[in-house]
Order: sequence, then C-alpha cells, then structure tokens
Amino acid sequence: MMNVLVLGSGGREHAISWKLAQSSHIQSLFIAPGNAGTAAVGTNLDVDPEDFKAVRKCVVENNIQLVVVGPEGPLVKGIVDFFKTDKNLQGVGIIGPSQVGAQLEGSKDFAKKFMQRHHIPTAKYASFTKETVEEGVAFLKTMKAPYVLKADGLAAGKGVLIIEDLKTAQDELRSMLLDQKFGAASSTVVIEEFLKGIECSVFVLTDGHSYKILPEAKDYKRIGVGDTGLNTGGMGAISPVPFCTPEFMDKIESRIIIPTIKGLKADEIEYKGFIFVGIIKVGNDPYVIEYNCRMGDPETEVVMPRIKSDLLNLLEGVVTQTLSECDLHVDDRVCSTVVTVSKGYPESYEKGKEIKGLHRADEAIVFHSGTKKSGAKIVTNGGRVLAISAYGYSINDATKKSFDAAESIEYSGKYFREDIGKDLIKMLEKI
Ligand code: AMP
Ligand code: GLY
Repeated sequence: MMNVLVLGSGGREHAISWKLAQSSHIQSLFIAPGNAGTAAVGTNLDVDPEDFKAVRKCVVENNIQLVVVGPEGPLVKGIVDFFKTDKNLQGVGIIGPSQVGAQLEGSKDFAKKFMQRHHIPTAKYASFTKETVEEGVAFLKTMKAPYVLKADGLAAGKGVLIIEDLKTAQDELRSMLLDQKFGAASSTVVIEEFLKGIECSVFVLTDGHSYKILPEAKDYKRIGVGDTGLNTGGMGAISPVPFCTPEFMDKIESRIIIPTIKGLKADEIEYKGFIFVGIIKVGNDPYVIEYNCRMGDPETEVVMPRIKSDLLNLLEGVVTQTLSECDLHVDDRVCSTVVTVSKGYPESYEKGKEIKGLHRADEAIVFHSGTKKSGAKIVTNGGRVLAISAYGYSINDATKKSFDAAESIEYSGKYFREDIGKDLIKMLEKI
C-alpha cells in the first residue's frame, strides 16, 4: 500500500488522480495544489509544485512513497534531480525525467539535435541566436512558405509562429531574437520546414529500459469550430484515433519510439516517466513535431479512462525498472472529452463564476481543469474549466454524451467547441 502525491492542478492531474484512486495499492492520495475535482478523489495540499522545498516538506510529513509530476514546469526546473540528491527524499519514487531529459520539451533546439543524432524523422531545421540573426534572415529566404519559427524555450504554448509571408517572418525572427518577444525563451529560435499533414498525440511510459505505448489521442487546439481562431491548451480530445492504424502505429514504434528510448539510454539521460510525442502524418509516414516530458491535457482525460490496468502498478514498475513485467490492458471503447472554457479564453477571462448542475452529467466523467471550492459552491478558477469525458461504441456515441453533459452544466460565460471528433467521423465515412 502506498501514499502517493500528484503535483499539478489541471484536468490532467484530476484524470491521473481519478485513475490512481481506483488502484488496489493506494493508501492515501494527495494532490498539490489540486482543484475542486481532485478534492473528491484525494486530499488537496496547498503547495506550489515549483517550490521544491515545500514539496519536500509535504512528502516527508505525509510519508509519501511516490510522486507523480503532472506539468512540465517542475520537471524543466529539475525536481527529479532535487529528489535524487536530497537525503530526506532517498527512496521516494518520482515519475518524470531528469532535468536533462526534460530538455526534450524545455529546449526545441535540444530536441532537434537529439532527433538528428538518433535519426528520428522530423522537419529539417536550423537554429539561430541574436549573434546570428542576419544568417537567420538569409536562411528564411532559402525556405518555402509557410515559415515555421519556434522559440527554443517554454513559452506557454505560444512560442510557435507559422507565417505565410517572407517579410513578416523575417521581422518576427528579429523581434524574437533581438526584442526577446518571448523573453528568454526566444533567445534561440528554431526555423523549421513546414510539414503538411494531420496530427496526433502518442504517449509512452518508460522506466528507462522498456516502455509501454499508452492509448493515442487527437487533440483540438484552436478555440473556434472548424479549427479556427487562437491556439489554446486544447479544447477536446478523442481516443483512439482512426488514422492510427496498426500499420501506422508500427511505423511510429519502430522509427520514433524505439530510437527515442535507445537514444536516451545511449546519451545517458535518465528518464523514468511519460513521453508525449506530437506526431504529424505526412503521406503515410510519421514525423515528430515536438516532444513533451509529461502527459497532454486534455489528452490525459481520454487516455486514463481507456487504461484498464492498475496505473499505480505500472508506475511502481517504472520506479523499480520492472515495467516490462507489467500488463497494460486497454479498453476498446472510444473515449471523448469536451473542454468547457471561460468567456474570453485564451485571452483574458473572469474567474469565480458558480458552476451548477455538475451532478446532472451522469453519463459522463467530469474532470475539473480550472475550478475551486468557495464555501459550499464550486466556482470557475481558470480559462479551461471542465473536461467532460465519455465512453462510446463510436466517436458519435461518445461525443454525444460529452456534449449533452457540457450542455447541462451551467456557469456564466461557458463555451465549448461543438465539433470535437466531427473531422474524424467524416474521415471514417470516406474509408
Ligand atoms: P509545437 O509547440 O512544436 O507542438 O507546435 C505547435 C503547433 O504548431 C503544432 O501542434 C503544429 O500544429 C504546428 N507546427 C509545429 N511545427 C510544425 C511544422 N514543422 N510544420 C507544420 N506545422 C507545425
Ligand atoms: N494538449 C496539448 C498539450 O498538452 O501540450
């Protein structure tokens, strides 16, 4: 029996906690800082995941044996290395890569060099800094539109620009490098070849030696119906993904996942955790768009419900490097999630709106993203508020339940995309 701490406060952490709470090995489950949803499956602790000393205090006080790190922030800041070197934390298992491993997400230039070194298919690229800005401007001239510019560091999902016009791309490159448009994150900029295709998210759990491929998902990134408007953290997700056929997944495994795990080992990068591989399908071939050192949000809200095996057992396998002995069984059903957001998101939005009717969603699993308790009420506390997941025997069947529940829950300024999964339904009709 184990005491487990999940770090984070979003829908991803609610879904992970919801799944861990079902484990037969769990004694006590804590979430820091959590939200109103996680409070229903465990105990929330008011601790900032990026304040490592505060995390240590709560691990020691609550006799935690395993920590699951939800977001990338603490990983990129080195929480795993902090645990390994602190004498009070010896023997505490932690799920996530070392700080160097987290650079797969924390530095696009690092990730590109890693992929090049290990022959992992990805868009061609070159990197520039303020010293080489004019070389970058000249390099753009040799590329074809659209131009893809990426801030090297973490930029809250906003650091990727896709620009049609050469002059604008050159101006943006100067502004990223010389005016620090994305702060320190854009002190290096990666310029990439544009790849045209359809995207999906593939998740791998690794103990550094072996790995399990978790259910894949498709995310809906833009705010508007028909994939229009501003980029968001994600407005919905579907799993499984119809175009991820066994043949395509085999290519992903042999050309991307195996070389990634072998590459980490060859480079002596310690990695015990989740790898999120953003894939783009060009023709019939997979290319890596990005790596993340954590699970996706809202993808986790469809991945966790599809895992039938005991998650804590798998995570113990990661810590003890016996993952190869663990079973991973996956539910055949479709799972969909629809994210309800606050009015104004992804730009500025209001918080503190009372959420009513949560109990009405009896055919769905309501994961909380940005909520908190306020006395006896539950109120909105973020741009993304709820991720409403449902099972079905088809995408239509699952999404109908997610939409109906999203409709029945009320708060002022609620908005959700009513077309989650529709593109995949159309794609299936054509086959
Ligand atoms: P990233 O943060 O690297 O995942 O990029 C954000 C989004 O930009 C991706 O999900 C893609 O939709 C798009 N994108 C990134 N790189 C490329 C590329 N080389 N070609 C086409 N689209 C891209
Ligand atoms: N849904 C995309 C992400 O978590 O980065």
